[in-house]
Amino acid sequence: MKIALIGTGYVGLVTGTCFAEAGHQVICADCDAQKVKLLQSGGMPIYEPSLEELVRKNQASGQLRFTNDTKEAVQESLVIFIAVPTPPLPDGGVDLSAMEAVAREIAGFMTSYKIVVDKSTVPVKTGEKVAETIKRYCKSRVDFDVVSNPEFLREGFAVEDFMNPDRVVVGVASQRPVQTLRDLYAPFHAPIIVTDINSAELIKHAANSFLALKISYVNALSVICEASGANIQEVANGIGMDSRIGRQFLNASLGFGGSCFPKDLSAFIKIAEQIGYDFGLLKEVQLINSRQMDRFFKKIQETLWILKGKTIGVLGLAFKENTDDTRMSPAMDLCRRLLKEGAKLRVYDPKAMVKAKAELPQAEYIEDMDAVAEGCDALVVATEWPQFKNLDLERARKAMSHPIMFDGRNLFDPSEMEEQGFVYKSIGR
Ligand code: UDX
Repeated sequence: MKIALIGTGYVGLVTGTCFAEAGHQVICADCDAQKVKLLQSGGMPIYEPSLEELVRKNQASGQLRFTNDTKEAVQESLVIFIAVPTPPLPDGGVDLSAMEAVAREIAGFMTSYKIVVDKSTVPVKTGEKVAETIKRYCKSRVDFDVVSNPEFLREGFAVEDFMNPDRVVVGVASQRPVQTLRDLYAPFHAPIIVTDINSAELIKHAANSFLALKISYVNALSVICEASGANIQEVANGIGMDSRIGRQFLNASLGFGGSCFPKDLSAFIKIAEQIGYDFGLLKEVQLINSRQMDRFFKKIQETLWILKGKTIGVLGLAFKENTDDTRMSPAMDLCRRLLKEGAKLRVYDPKAMVKAKAELPQAEYIEDMDAVAEGCDALVVATEWPQFKNLDLERARKAMSHPIMFDGRNLFDPSEMEEQGFVYKSIGR
């Protein structure tokens, strides 16, 4: 099937590449000429496990093309995915101007029946607006359908998630585009849930808000565990083994971040407000998350007392493992707070150093994880990269005058750390 992706960011690039890998003919269009050039000439704008090899393979076979020319992408394709940014507005709402601009562009170029699929995360009722816009700006009066098909890709696992989805949600206003969408997703052997467009749009915000709620719930429990001498990991295992609850997203941490959860929570609260519902539950989720960072920072401050002039090693800058993305990263937030108090930072991340350096040039970037501790007054684990578990603890201990570790991701075992001679402080244990 011939498909187009308008927007070649995280979602557009992964979606287009995976559809090409599944045998479809894909054109990825982007208005950023530099990005298109980079992709055409063998470069990659982002890091995502196994994405690069799939891009190269499908480019070489001709299944996947990159272009600056939206007209060509629209006219050559039956299904057109919109995967443009929908960034937050200052009031927590969603900026849909890119969405509207692309809908108008598609409308202007359509010369035959098209299925226009919204992949971007948007407030409920956006599909209706997209359909109205296309109708208004389409001079050739050809038929079209608008579909909502939200993505549930985790950064760092985006290709894996796309290839093995738990479900595919397809929101439609009529049955006409349904079989085409079924054919498109057939290679992925996933259950396909067909809903109305508003429900599909809501599913996305509801899913991400629920996952954020799970993390804030476990983080709130971690405070009770610390105060009562219980262990959050044991509590999480105990409740998570109830299949109605599930163990995933019950890892206590210094808080969640990234380009999705914070933004989607604010958007969902705003959407609810506009509909006349005060979503206090989700406001509490936000509050617990920001307090979790405050609490972790206070733990460092209380232990080290004066931070001015102290050297702190920070392991992890990305907002989570397996990505180079530092947007809304709790690790970066922590670094900023430490720098503000006058601490000196020695930092390391397996993938996010380049992006972090552009934002935080004041920190010292160390290329070797095991060398970070040298001359440090404390070490902080801020991102859940699994390789941090292989840190050479003996070398780290010897390199520090007073070996202290603050583990914001509960990667290490408290009793083992004590045996290794560390003062070890983690979350909820
Ligand atoms: C999320 C959703 O999972 C995905 O379905 C959606 O399409 C986009 O948003 P992503 O932002 O890539 O994906 O990250 P995710 O893996 O969900 O983690 C979000 C944040 O929560 C990270 O900062 C992570 O470190 C934190 N987290 C996650 C925890 O603190 N504890 C957990 O148990 C799980």
